[in-house]
Amino acid sequence: MAFTKKTVRDADVAGKRVLMRVDFNVPLKDGVVTDDTRVRAAIPTIEYLKEQGAKIILMSHLGRPKGDGPEPQFSLKPAADKLAELTGYDVKFVDDTYGEKAKAAVDALQDGEILVLENVRFDKREKKNDPEIAKTLASYGDVFVLDAFGTAHRAQGSVVGPAAYLPAYAGFLLEKEVDTLTGIFAEPERPFVAIVGGSKVSSKIGVLDHLIDSADTLIIGGGMAYTFFLAKGYTVGTSLKEEDWVERAGEMLKKAEDKGVKILLPIDNVVADHFGEDAEGEVVDSDKIPDDRMGMDIGPKTRELYADAIKAAKTVFWNGPMGVFEMDQFAAGTEAVARAVADSDCTSIIGGGDSVAAINKFGLADKMSWISTGGGASMELVEGKALPGVEALLDA
Ligand code: 3PG
Repeated sequence: MAFTKKTVRDADVAGKRVLMRVDFNVPLKDGVVTDDTRVRAAIPTIEYLKEQGAKIILMSHLGRPKGDGPEPQFSLKPAADKLAELTGYDVKFVDDTYGEKAKAAVDALQDGEILVLENVRFDKREKKNDPEIAKTLASYGDVFVLDAFGTAHRAQGSVVGPAAYLPAYAGFLLEKEVDTLTGIFAEPERPFVAIVGGSKVSSKIGVLDHLIDSADTLIIGGGMAYTFFLAKGYTVGTSLKEEDWVERAGEMLKKAEDKGVKILLPIDNVVADHFGEDAEGEVVDSDKIPDDRMGMDIGPKTRELYADAIKAAKTVFWNGPMGVFEMDQFAAGTEAVARAVADSDCTSIIGGGDSVAAINKFGLADKMSWISTGGGASMELVEGKALPGVEALLDA
C-alpha cells in the first residue's frame, strides 16, 4: 500500500529550521541508554536533513513524568549523547523545552547542526495537546517532520500540534512503518500466519478481530490462551484468565470457523504450582490442567505444531510472547516460535512490545524482515485504526 502522506523528500529543507518529533522513549539504567533501537531508527531521516543543510531541532518524550517540571531520571540528555555516539555528529542538548533557553539554543543553530530539546512531557500541557505549547514548538521551525512512529497514536502537543502551524511531513521511519504494517494486510503473500501472545485477550481484541479477517492461520499463545480454553470448556487451574472475556473469546473462535481461518491453540502446556523464578515446570495436555497449577508456557507438542505452521507460511505477523520468556525455564515456547520464524523464508513482521524483547533475547533480530519500533502504535495500525500523528500530515 502506498504511503498517502508527504514525506521529507517532498519538503524544501535546505537552510530551513526543521522541527522533528522523534520517539526517543528509550530504556535507561543509571543514566545510560540500554536499548538504542529507537535512536538508531531515527538516524536515516536525521542524516538526510543534515545532508540537505537543514537546522535540525529534535524533540521527544521519555517515560511518563508527572508534568510538573524537570525530573532528572526522564531527561533526554542520555538519548542525545547516544545519537552523538552512533552518528559521530556534534549533537547539542538544551535542558529546556518551551522557555527562553530553548528558544536561544534554536536561534543559535547553524545549517546542518542538530539540537535535542528536553523532554516535552516535563510540562502537563504536552499530554493535553494544549495549543499554546504547539504554537511555541512550531515557532522553532519552518517545517515540521514527524518520525516518531512509536508515538504517532498519541494526539499530544508535540505529535499533532505543530502540523496546525507548519507544513508537516513524514520522516522515513514513519513512512516505512506505516507502509509495512498496513501493506501486509492489504496484500499478504499466502499462507499468512499471524501469531498473537501475551497475557490478555482484552488488550488485543481489536487485533485478534482484524487478524481473523486477513490471516489464513492464527496461532495463539501466552496467558490469553487460557481464556480461550475456558471458551472451549476446559478448566485452567490457577492460570491467568479473564472470565469477562470468555464469551468474546468464544465468538472469536466461531468467527474464525465461519471464515475458514484456522486457529491454533496450545495442545500441551508447561505448568507450575506458583509464579516465580524458582518455579519448576511440568508438561500437561491442555484439557488436563490440574486445579492447583498455572500455565507458564506452551508445551513441546505445541512448539512442534506451531513451528510446522510457521514453516509453511509466506507471511508472518507476530505480536506477544508464548509464555513467561523472562524466566529461562518458561522461555522454550517463545524461543521455538522465534526460531521457526527466523528459519523460514517468509516475510516476517514483528509488531513491537514484548515480542521484540524476546527476539533480542534470543539474538534473532537480524533474521526478521521488519521489527516495528512501535508498541501501542503498531497495535492500533494492525487494528485498522488511523493514527492521529499521521492524519495531521500533508496529503501526498
Ligand atoms: C511507546 O513506548 O509505546 C511510545 O513511546 C509511547 O509512549 P507512551 O505510551 O508513554 O505514550
